[in-house]
Parts: sequence; C-alpha cells; structure tokens
Amino acid sequence: MNIKENINKETNESSYIVAITGASGPIYGFSLLKALIFRSFFVHLIISKPGFRVIKDELGMFGNISEPYINAANKSLNIKDEIINKFGLQKVGDRFAILDDDFLEARIASGSAKNVNGMAVIPCSMGSLSRIANGISGNLIERAADVMLKERKKLVVCPRETPFSDIHLKNMLSLYSSGASILPPIPAFYNKPQTIDDIVDFITGKILDSLGIDNDIYSRWNGYDAK
Ligand SMILES: Cc1cc2nc3c(=O)[nH]c(=O)nc-3n(C[C@H](O)[C@H](O)[C@H](O)COP(=O)(O)O)c2cc1C
Repeated sequence: MNIKENINKETNESSYIVAITGASGPIYGFSLLKALIFRSFFVHLIISKPGFRVIKDELGMFGNISEPYINAANKSLNIKDEIINKFGLQKVGDRFAILDDDFLEARIASGSAKNVNGMAVIPCSMGSLSRIANGISGNLIERAADVMLKERKKLVVCPRETPFSDIHLKNMLSLYSSGASILPPIPAFYNKPQTIDDIVDFITGKILDSLGIDNDIYSRWNGYDAK
C-alpha cells in the first residue's frame, strides 16, 4: 500500500491534522495523536523530513532507516507500524493516516475537504513557523495550515525555540493576527509534575483546550478559596 491508497482509506469521520516538524519535542505530537484518536477523531498525521530526523534522534525510532530524510510515501507502512507499536495504538491503528509532506494532492491540501475541524503543528520549528506565517505553502504542512487560516478553522501552532529572535516573534504575531493560537510547549509547575509524561500531558491538554476538545488530561489550576 502506498501513501495514496493510505489516504483513500480515510473515512468521512470528524478529523484533525497533526503536523510534527523538525523541532525538539516530537513526543508532544505523538501524545496529541493518541489523545485525538482515543477521543474518536480521525487524524491526518504529517511529519516533515527534518521532523523524521528529530524523531529518530530523540525517540530512537526508525533506526533501521539510514537516510537522514525519510520519505513517508515509500516507507508508510513501516513507519505506521513503528508508531503503532511505540505508542500502544494497536486497537486504533485504522484511525490515523500518515501523509507525506510532499503530497500536495492530498484532500486536506484544499479548503474543500470536509470534516476537518482543525490542525496543530506540534512541535513547530522556526522554519515552519516562518513559512506558514508568510503563506509559502511549499509542502503539505504549510499548505494545510494555510487552508486552516483561509477557512477560518482552528490552527494551533506550538513554536519550540529559546530564546526567540525578533523574526520569530514577528512571525508569531503575524500568525496570531491571522487567527492561529500560539501555544509554546512551556510547562507549568503549579500542577507539580513528577514525570516527563506529566509535562507532556499538560501541553497535550492545553492543545486540546485550544482546539475546543473537552479533556481531563492535566490537573487544572482550581484556585484558592477566599479566606
Ligand atoms: C536534533 C535537532 C533538533 C532541532 N531542534 C529545533 C528546535 O527546537 N527548534 C527549531 O526551530 N529548529 C530545530 N532544529 C532545526 C530544524 O530541524 C531545521 O531548521 C529544519 O529545516 C526545520 O524544517 P521543518 O520546519 O520543515 O521541519 C533541530 C534540528 C535537529 C537536527
């Protein structure tokens, strides 16, 4: 099965797009994938070529693939199997499709696509941030994000860099002004995280909140009672 057959398997279910770019923290993207599909949404997963490289580096996945930039199109099944096994998605593997970032013919590259509620770019590199903010639309991630903005659908962008330059900040302001939510994966400590999973869950829950999806993934700040 190649990537085009993979997309043709998509159903008309309510869906979201999750894009993982080449910034640190792809674990967040996979956590969001899992949270969405376990809430009965279909997910269109796009991983940029640098994204594959960071996943390999940080999560030790795709180790049998030697080239620095992996092509999702001709390796789609191996990639999907590895994601399913790594994140325990065996029972819900049919609830997501992996789309090559070169696949500009994809349904989600058009504003006419039905049942696509929104998109999160998590983590978002400064490169993707810049290209989305400037409407470059050179790959499927950038084009799908552009579609979200023009269709006035939810776009959550999770920039990962520190410190930020004025260029990064201007691009974030530009995206915010166009309707995107800017949600840097900055952990809170009021919920007293004990593990990396606690921190990842917090960010995942905040993204779900921004997408308008009810969740109890993270401990919310409930405030103190008045004295
Ligand atoms: C291991 C690794 C970690 C990286 N972390 C970041 C990061 O946190 N933020 C960032 O903006 N770029 C980071 N980069 C650089 C981006 O991958 C690079 O700019 C790339 O061109 C982004 O492409 P993309 O936006 O198409 O994914 C990292 C690169 C590597 C190899």
